[in-house]
Formats: sequence, C-alpha cells, structure tokens
Amino acid sequence: MSLLAWIDERIPLSKTYKKHISEYPAPKNFNFWYYFGSLAFLVLANQLLTGFWLTMNYVPTAEGAFASIEYIMRDVEYGWLLRYMHSTGASAFFIVVYCHMFRALMYGSYQKPRELLWIFGMFIFFVLMAEAFMGYLLPWGQMSYWGAQVIISLFGAIPIIGDDLTLWIRGDYVVSGATLNRFFALHVAVLPLVLCLLVFLHIIALHEVGSNNPDGIDVKKNKDVSGWPVDAIPFHPYYTVKDIFGVGVFLFFFCYVIFFMPEGGGYFLEKPNFEAANPLKTPEHIAPVWYFTPFYAMLRAIPDKLGGVIVMVSAILILFALPWIDRGHVRSVRYRCKWHVFNLVQFVISFIVLGVLGALPATPTGTVLSQIFTLLYFGFFGFLWFYSHQEKTKPLPSRVNYS
Ligand code: HEM
Repeated sequence: MSLLAWIDERIPLSKTYKKHISEYPAPKNFNFWYYFGSLAFLVLANQLLTGFWLTMNYVPTAEGAFASIEYIMRDVEYGWLLRYMHSTGASAFFIVVYCHMFRALMYGSYQKPRELLWIFGMFIFFVLMAEAFMGYLLPWGQMSYWGAQVIISLFGAIPIIGDDLTLWIRGDYVVSGATLNRFFALHVAVLPLVLCLLVFLHIIALHEVGSNNPDGIDVKKNKDVSGWPVDAIPFHPYYTVKDIFGVGVFLFFFCYVIFFMPEGGGYFLEKPNFEAANPLKTPEHIAPVWYFTPFYAMLRAIPDKLGGVIVMVSAILILFALPWIDRGHVRSVRYRCKWHVFNLVQFVISFIVLGVLGALPATPTGTVLSQIFTLLYFGFFGFLWFYSHQEKTKPLPSRVNYS
C-alpha cells in the first residue's frame, strides 16, 4: 500500500486537496484584483515566521525592550533582515488587505450568498488592527509609548466604566512594563491564533459558496453535461501559476523596500521610534502608522472625545453591515448604475484624503476638511442604501467576459 493510500484511509488528504485545490472551480475571468487573496496568505506567513524568530531575541520588559531591538538590528545574524521583513511586512499586510477589500467592494463580493465570508473578513481586519497596534508598542520607542498612551486613553471616554477599563487594559496608571508584557503575550500568541482561525473560517466560507468574479454573475448556474461550470477552470494548475507570478512581482517590490528604504520614508517606521520611550517627554506630533490614519483623522474631526471615539468605531462597524446596507441585486460595478460608480470613487478618495489628514499635525483647516471627508465616508453607505433599492442596472451577460 502506498503511503498516500495509507494516509487517505485515516485522514481525507487527497479528498481535501481535490476539493479545495485541484478540482476547485474558479471563474475563468479573475483579474489583477484577485492576486491579493493569495498575497494576504503570503504576508500572513511572513509575519508569523519572522515574528517567531524575532521573539527568540526580544526582551518584553520596559528596561530591556528597546535595547533588545538594537541588539537584533546590530548583533543577531540577519536580525536586521528579520526585523525589516516584519516591520515592512506589517505595512505590506495592510496594503494587500485594503486592495483585497476594495476588490470586494467593486465586484459586490459581500452580497448574498457571501455575507458570512465578508463578516469573517471584517473580523480579520479588526483583529489585524489590534495585532498591529499591540506590535507597535513592543520596540518601546517614543512613538510606541505615546501612541499607546493616546489610544488606550480613548477608552476613558466611555461613560461610567471608562476609567476602570483604561486601568484594566494598561495594568497600571500609565503605560508601563506591565502593559508591554501583556501586549507582548497578546501579540505573539493569542491574536495570531485567532487570526489563523479566522482565515481558516474565511476560506471554508469561500469554498462553500464559491468565488465571485469581476462580472459578479453566478458561474455555478451554467454547467456542462459532466456537471462542471462552463465558466470555471480548476484552481490548480491555472490559478496557482497565476498566483506564483503575483508573488514574484510582489516580492520584487517588497524586497526593494526592505533593502533600499526599510523605514518607508518615516511612514513604515516613524522617526521618533528610533529614540527610547521617555514618559517625561511627549513628542511634538503624535501620529499613528499610515494604515490607521484615516480612522485617526475621523477621531480628531470631532471636538468631543466620546463623539470622536463613537465616529471612529462606527466607521469600522458600519462595514460589517455592508451586505445589508447594499440592497442591490447586481453585484459588479460594471453593471450597476452611474451613481454607484461615482459613490465608490468618492468613497476611495475620501478614505485616502482622510489618511493624509490623519498623518498631518492638527490644524483648524485640517479639522474642517476631516469633518467634510468623514461625512462623505459615511455618505457612501447612506447613498448606497438609498439608490440600491430600485437601481437601474445594465443587462447582465449570460457568460463571463474578459474585457
Ligand atoms: C489574513 C487576511 C486575509 C486572507 C489570508 C484572505 C484570503 C482570501 C483568499 C485566498 C480569497 C480567495 C482569493 C481571492 O478572492 O482573492 C479570499 C476571498 C475573499 N476575501 Fe479574503 N482574506 C483576508 C482578509 C479579508 C478581509 C479583511 C476581507 C474583507 C473585510 C476579505 C473579504 C473577502 C471576500 C469578500 C472574498 C471573496 C471575493 C470574491 O470571490 O470575489 N478578506 N480571501
């Protein structure tokens, strides 16, 4: 008996491989935007592997953390490479995930029957933000310290329980070694496990309902005599080859950043973070890393602290409800009304402008602009709910097309 047959009698190895890889029917018309799912896997694996290695030399105490990072950078063999792969990897993760989410918005991949797939994705996004936030405290630089101070203090705005909750999260009256230690535990053990579990559920949900595609039509409806969807091809070898090409191109850019501009011009690793945390010296301008700045701009747009927190949290929560806010019956932007194209474009522009505003020091003009673009961000959902109900759409093709 072959080894494979022996294994197959005990666990469904070949069956799983066939169902999810070699015989998974993927629509023929996947385009550029479909690279980002496999790339999300790649960056996740990169973060896990480089993270485990960094842990071997990192010291999670207020006295030792900053020095241990310097030790990794200067004395550990290839420590600089591990660290830059991890810190640049965090930014790459968000670039990939933002592109992946934008694709879902464009092609209506969150609509029925993929609501749960989208919800799992949103949980991934949420946990990813918590993971990145906690990771940023670990180098114990000035921005690590003060960024954590600002964000954790936001919980203090919650009525009644706010102060106790803040104390409970920090484990101290200020951000301290106790905070660093618990963030370390969450960052290296708890959240990565939750993230992997969510990714597993995400893929299970995807393979249960099948992939959407740039035309947003249901390829499962049109099958040949053998029961294979006429507009689908097996995931392996066709899309494994396509995805390997995507990985090659991605690695080209990723390596360029790691080797030639690892700090990303101060956006991937902020300048004040090369100075050890000093609780007695507040940096002049505290700003989070670029991937949080759109939400930070919304927080600052509202003069009231509690109001700002509510708006910022709602900006994320509202995305969970997207499958029910969009009442349309056509998925892809290709066949939806002109209003939808306009709305989607304004949403992306608003998000980017908020990102720029959140990275700049607060000014009166900046605050007014942040308020306008925050309104437009939420306006996307309001308009969508309104026009999607009785939308004039273009006729859907019966087969997928490549244009
Ligand atoms: C660790 C992070 C993630 C990984 C590893 C991941 C992985 C994948 C993979 C491999 C696919 C299938 C290939 C593709 O469609 O590109 C997929 C599809 C999808 N993902 Fe994710 N994903 C992640 C995060 C997210 C997030 C944050 C969202 C949105 C909130 C999301 C929403 C979706 C949707 C809606 C689809 C179906 C797209 C379609 O069929 O058109 N994913 N994901």
